Amino acid sequence: MKHITDPLLQLLEPYRYVSVVCGQWGDTGKGKVVDLLADVWADAVIRRTGSANAGHTVVPKDKETILHLIPSGILHDARGLQNIIDEGVAFDPAEAWDSEIVPLRADGIACTNLHISHMAKLLLPQHIVMDMVRETSPGEFKVGTTGRGVGPCYTDFYARTGLVVNDLLNRDVFVRKLRQNLKDKARLLSFADPEIVKKAMQDPRLGSGIYLKDGYHGQADGTGPFDADAIIEHYLRYGERLREFIRDTRELIRRLINKMKHIVFEGAQGTLLSVDYGTYPNVTSSDASFHGLTHGLPIKREDIFSLMIMKAFYMTRVGNGPFPTEFGGALSEAWCRHAEREAEEGQYAHLTVNDPDPFLQGIAIRMAGHEYGATTKRSRRTGWFDLPAAKYARLVNDTPNVVTTKSDVLDDCDTIKICVAYRYTGSNYHLGDQLLTKGTQFTVAPMDDFVLQYCEPEYREFPGWRSKTSDITDMRDMPAAFRTILDFCENEADFHTQICSVGPKRSQTIIRG
Ligand code: IMP
Repeated sequence: MKHITDPLLQLLEPYRYVSVVCGQWGDTGKGKVVDLLADVWADAVIRRTGSANAGHTVVPKDKETILHLIPSGILHDARGLQNIIDEGVAFDPAEAWDSEIVPLRADGIACTNLHISHMAKLLLPQHIVMDMVRETSPGEFKVGTTGRGVGPCYTDFYARTGLVVNDLLNRDVFVRKLRQNLKDKARLLSFADPEIVKKAMQDPRLGSGIYLKDGYHGQADGTGPFDADAIIEHYLRYGERLREFIRDTRELIRRLINKMKHIVFEGAQGTLLSVDYGTYPNVTSSDASFHGLTHGLPIKREDIFSLMIMKAFYMTRVGNGPFPTEFGGALSEAWCRHAEREAEEGQYAHLTVNDPDPFLQGIAIRMAGHEYGATTKRSRRTGWFDLPAAKYARLVNDTPNVVTTKSDVLDDCDTIKICVAYRYTGSNYHLGDQLLTKGTQFTVAPMDDFVLQYCEPEYREFPGWRSKTSDITDMRDMPAAFRTILDFCENEADFHTQICSVGPKRSQTIIRG
């Protein structure tokens, strides 16, 4: 690992903080990068956005660990690395305890240095139900969410009707706030189809119906489907179990900063899914950009090494919303709403990444890259690398520092296509002070959901490198064809690739610096 450790330490020498965000629509490999930084450099890893909608896969040696809420630095708990879930996170106690802390402890990771903000937004069963009911009810606007209750939890926070983690520690407060919150939800759910509500409440993530009130059949008496007593008992028990981790993380982070500790801010989702900067409304409900990770902290911008991760030279998207470079376009979007890994791998095992049909080529690249949701198992929509979107993400995150990942997935491709611009194909449309007409060209992505769906990509084609890259440890040994494409993208979007990941393991990393 010397090929990584020494150059990485040299690269980070001038900085005290590293922020790691995805420059695309998520799933670019943040978990691996954070784990690497935790291994050689960091004293603390902090999550400040998102929820259990995230899925961070870490493969330190041979065993894969998938984390949703807990920071990817947890594998370094034994050496005293601090892992902090800060107040911006929508915190689901059931997920954290049952699916992460208990299994981590069974694997010998004690979670001694895990800290959960007492002010984190508390994600409760009713949020998951609201999310699932909206996503499955006919006629509702759908985002294609992960169904983890994230939007409804943040909605409650901004509506000032939400609970916070601290409420789990105080029975009376919890009971009062919970009953009030359930009343709101019951009112809203009285407009939904009771069968859809019941189905959502019987989801395995909600204990297969343990919070469903006996005899619920959608009565209009305003009491709703929830067994409040069951929620109270289960969640106060989670409070007891989690009590040892809950504290004022604002104060803790301030102390770490004052002690000049090295801190990694671990992003979730991706810039293009940010509620503030992404393809709104097809976004998640927190700011997944650099700004969401670093706002409100007493730190200087010049002390932060801001890294933006991008898959090279393709990208993926899960859920609804425009994706100009998607292989197979609308056909792929519709297919990925229902497709699952096993069926796809069974039916399409024979495909190659050079299939002349873009839809099938997309499936082959998805299979080669194992592009199936860590959280939802859904097939991720797949498309070529999009320079206009990369330029936009570079502007938002205000950093030239890029980490490329997963380029090894394209090792067998004969041709690599890079989207260099979009051509607008829709009817006249006012975009701020600009009037878009058919044929308008964009070289930086307009972050407007409506406009993007009418953007046709223009490509430049490059010969593929057609050789195995996953054992390469020095950038100078990467194939010339790969470097030509990377140079082109760097020049066009004005970024510099600091780190190049060529496989899932820690050792499969090139530090370019
Ligand atoms: P939510 O965050 O579950 O509300 O989902 C909102 C949108 O973000 C949907 O399109 C999801 O598929 C997408 N999304 C949420 N988390 C992730 C992630 O970790 N990777 C990729 N897409 C995500």
